[in-house]
Amino acid sequence: MRISVIGCGYLGAVHAACMAELGHDVVGIDVDERKVELLSAGKAPFYEPGLPELLERVAGTGRLRFTTDMAEAADAQVHFVCVGTPQRKGEYAADLTYVDAAVDALAPHLRGTADAPVLVVGKSTVPVGTAARLADRVQELLPEGGHALLAWNPEFLREGFAVQDTLTPDRFVYGLPDGDAGATAKALLDEVYATPLGAGTPLVTTDYATAELVKVAANSFLATKISFINAMAEVCEKVNADVVALADAIGHDARIGRRFLNAGLGFGGGCLPKDIRAFMARAGELGVDQALTFLRDVDDINMRRRQRMVELTREVCEGSLLGRRIAVLGAAFKPNSDDIRDSPALSVAAQLRLQGGHVTVYDPQAVENAARAWPDLRFAASADEAVAGADVVLLLTEWQEFRDLDPVALGEQVAHRRLLDGRNALDPATWRAAGWTYRALGRPRG
Ligand code: UDX
Repeated sequence: MRISVIGCGYLGAVHAACMAELGHDVVGIDVDERKVELLSAGKAPFYEPGLPELLERVAGTGRLRFTTDMAEAADAQVHFVCVGTPQRKGEYAADLTYVDAAVDALAPHLRGTADAPVLVVGKSTVPVGTAARLADRVQELLPEGGHALLAWNPEFLREGFAVQDTLTPDRFVYGLPDGDAGATAKALLDEVYATPLGAGTPLVTTDYATAELVKVAANSFLATKISFINAMAEVCEKVNADVVALADAIGHDARIGRRFLNAGLGFGGGCLPKDIRAFMARAGELGVDQALTFLRDVDDINMRRRQRMVELTREVCEGSLLGRRIAVLGAAFKPNSDDIRDSPALSVAAQLRLQGGHVTVYDPQAVENAARAWPDLRFAASADEAVAGADVVLLLTEWQEFRDLDPVALGEQVAHRRLLDGRNALDPATWRAAGWTYRALGRPRG
């Protein structure tokens, strides 16, 4: 099929490449010339495992190109809208500027016919009600005689596993218009996803509003699960109990499950934090704010973890951060990503610096992004460089490289063997045996 993908960020670039991999003829469109140039040269504009290899593979097929010119979408039968919906400045609500602009720019190029309408597919995470509004907007802006439909097909990919999650998702959700239009839209999407559907990927078809809600409900559930275990960590800290053993024990109950029960610094990134806030804001507009007041607690528990990490650092530094040399390992919001949006690690690093610490940050992939956003912080080119002479070492993003650190070798480079494990990623006994003061969130002091 001929497909256009509008917005080539963490979601769209991967989606475009994966659609080409599935055999479609794809044009990726973005307003950012740098991104388009890099992608056109077969290079990934951000770090995502497997994406460079995928881009290289599909480049050879001639089925994938990138442009800044929306007119080049005109030949496509299916148009995926993959632009961002960040949090509005100073508000909880989502900023729909980019989605609205994408649809407004695309609609005049839609050339479907009554027999073969084209399909606009929203993938961005949006407040419930947006799809219905955009469906009307598409009809208003269509060229004379054009025929187009709209579907909402939320994306559940995890950064770090984006290629795998796009090619073999755990489910598809189609939010469809009523009647014949819905059947036509479904048939087009089924054709796009013929390969994964053929492999048995479950499909849930529904109305627009439910599809929009599925996405924010899923992310709210995941955020709640993380904050639940972090709330348990707060209690564990008071009584010197072990939240990791607690998570293991409750996780054996299949109704609870062990995944997403890793206590630590909490969630960040471009999705979970802003999605639960936008969901609360939308519930307020709809007059059902009471239904989601618990998400306020989920958010508060999450933010308190960052504060606790700063306090713990002060505690092990004998009550003062002034002039202390602090090594921060990790800047990305999670491992296997260079994404620093709402990164718990950088938020802690910045607070420590504000309170007088000499902070040096190292991350295997995110230093460039972090240095651009946080020019006041100092960055190192390796873990060794970051920890040299440190009074305390903080592990804030659990990259494999940090899990593999040798406590004996590292111990020879620091001024004081103090390790704060913000992700419960290391084995306390091994580090203590090598002479380190090991502290972690929600774990016994030892
Ligand atoms: C998330 C959803 O998982 C995905 O389905 C959705 O499409 C987009 O949002 P992502 O933002 O890539 O994906 O990251 P995810 O793996 O969900 O992690 C989010 C945050 O939670 C990270 O900061 C991570 O460190 C943290 N986390 C995750 C925990 O603190 N504990 C856990 O047990 C799991």
